[in-house]
Amino acid sequence: LKPWRGLIETYRPYLPVTDTTPVITLLEGNTPLIPVPYISQQIGRGVKVLVKYDGLNPTGSFKDRGMTMAISKAVENGAKAVICASTGNTSAAAAAYARRGKMRAFVIIPDGYVALGKLAQALLYGAEVIAIDGNFDDAFKIVRGMAENYPVTLVNSVNPYRLEGQKTAAFEVVDVLGNAPDWLCIPVGNAGNISAYWMGFCQYHGLGKCDRLPKMMGFQAAGAAPFLTGQPVPHPETLATAIRIGNPANWNKAWETQKASHGAFNGVTDEEILAAYRMLASQEGIFCEPASAASVAGLLKVKDQVPSEATVVCVLTGNGLKDPDCAIKHSDNQLKSGIKADLATVAQVMGFA
Ligand code: F0G
Repeated sequence: LKPWRGLIETYRPYLPVTDTTPVITLLEGNTPLIPVPYISQQIGRGVKVLVKYDGLNPTGSFKDRGMTMAISKAVENGAKAVICASTGNTSAAAAAYARRGKMRAFVIIPDGYVALGKLAQALLYGAEVIAIDGNFDDAFKIVRGMAENYPVTLVNSVNPYRLEGQKTAAFEVVDVLGNAPDWLCIPVGNAGNISAYWMGFCQYHGLGKCDRLPKMMGFQAAGAAPFLTGQPVPHPETLATAIRIGNPANWNKAWETQKASHGAFNGVTDEEILAAYRMLASQEGIFCEPASAASVAGLLKVKDQVPSEATVVCVLTGNGLKDPDCAIKHSDNQLKSGIKADLATVAQVMGFA
């Protein structure tokens, strides 16, 4: 068994790095592609669903794929500080990789709308965290301005190296399946990840590593769905705070991806997201964060459109541990507390006596 060396070393020929690029890595990537039989059964007709569980990356989300590239290139280019706006995961990944690369990390977040685990990570990794009275879109405007006017490198997904790193998730899917899936279902916020996957599939297709390209199916939270309304949403709202974004940074790339792949954008309500979130955990043993469950919620919503016998990959972008408050609040499984510490009582509570 060869030890995993991180995605830059593994996919070096397909990435914009040279022998002199310092590789800042936490050995991200190589995340499992897990079959989900219960969800497959919900669709039936021989459809096979697998989830790409990117919540198992070092900081718990797919952002590590982008950040190993963005931070390695920032160090190569002599940067001393990076900055990002974030709904939480980007800030955690930026903080971890920037500190490992001995740089300062500034993160601007919407006050009160970042899940607890993500905030804890950014702080402990040593980022300088600034919470603004505004949403992600407001924060993003500020960091763009900061990067234009001050010596800080922007590491949001408009940084081209971010998508270069993130495209490796598509490589991994093809490497495991032996081909591209028929459908790729993915949550959409800024639309960086959907664009990155598409880049990856197209690049592998060009290299003859797969002989088909997937239909790219992007899912947004219904209250934050600019790709459904066709224009920015001024006041995005969803409990899936990771994708609470009204003015996506990768607007054009996302539409190009949709057109080229003959894919589609759809919306899912918070209730549908929570139902998929609970189903993944309680039926499949997979704990993802609410935004990630949008991919499965979306697939279930449009399940009649899936061709029989198709292979479908749903991307689970972040780990459920990121947002413990949501899990406790929205689990329909209740804690049995205040139980006397003796065997007979516990047996009774368990229904055995
Ligand atoms: N899923 C999770 C868990 C995310 O954190 C994000 C984005 C997305 C999906 C959407 O990906 O923006 O490439 O379409 N999170 C960003 C952040 C905005 O700041 O962490 P996208």
